[in-house]
Amino acid sequence: MTDHRQHAPAAARNRDPILAVLRGVLPRTGTVLEIASGTGEHIMHFAAAMPGLVFQPSDADPEARRSIAAWAADSGLSNLRPPLALDAASSIWEVTAADAALCINMIHISPWASTEGLMRGAAAILPPGAPLYLYGPYRRAGFATAPSNEAFDRDLRGRNPAWGLRELEAVAALAVAAGFSGPAVTEMPANNLSVVFRRR
Ligand SMILES: C[S@@+](CC[C@H](N)C(=O)[O-])C[C@H]1O[C@@H](n2cnc3c(N)ncnc32)[C@H](O)[C@@H]1O
Repeated sequence: MTDHRQHAPAAARNRDPILAVLRGVLPRTGTVLEIASGTGEHIMHFAAAMPGLVFQPSDADPEARRSIAAWAADSGLSNLRPPLALDAASSIWEVTAADAALCINMIHISPWASTEGLMRGAAAILPPGAPLYLYGPYRRAGFATAPSNEAFDRDLRGRNPAWGLRELEAVAALAVAAGFSGPAVTEMPANNLSVVFRRR
């Protein structure tokens, strides 16, 4: 039988620092939508650690959804839903309501239209006060970009000219225009940031 479970080595390294931030950000109960769940390893880890919440994974890529479904089935977790086909850039989202939204390592590995769609879509489904949590590397006004992030940016742009590190200020401006306040920023290992917006 084919095993569709994929591994992202970075997910094993960053899942606990992200979980530590999420514990202070997510509500105690409700549904958490993850956009761009990738392999599914993050959301499985969060669902195991926070049994009071229901976790809804999603991804635009069918292979990623197969991996998420395989990990979810293997986990036996009752608070982890099957993955949805959700393209952040689309004007129609498969989800109409959630109490929090997560998007880890997507906005620099997709065209800017995905970030625009993420803000528009998340604003449409989240109630006032609900968090939108982003994680990844950024450029930031007044801060030197780490050499490792500069190299990563060059690599991303080489793979697709529409990809690349985003400026935190541009992402925040988009979020504010879509109806969020913030951001609250936490520096993370390996020159990444946790960025939390809240629905106004
Ligand atoms: C680098 S992976 C990150 C996966 C996971 N969040 C992680 O950190 O391990 C980027 C993911 O974003 C997804 N993705 C890219 N563009 C997307 C979009 N417009 N809507 C939803 N998912 C998207 C890809 O299919 C891929 O699974």
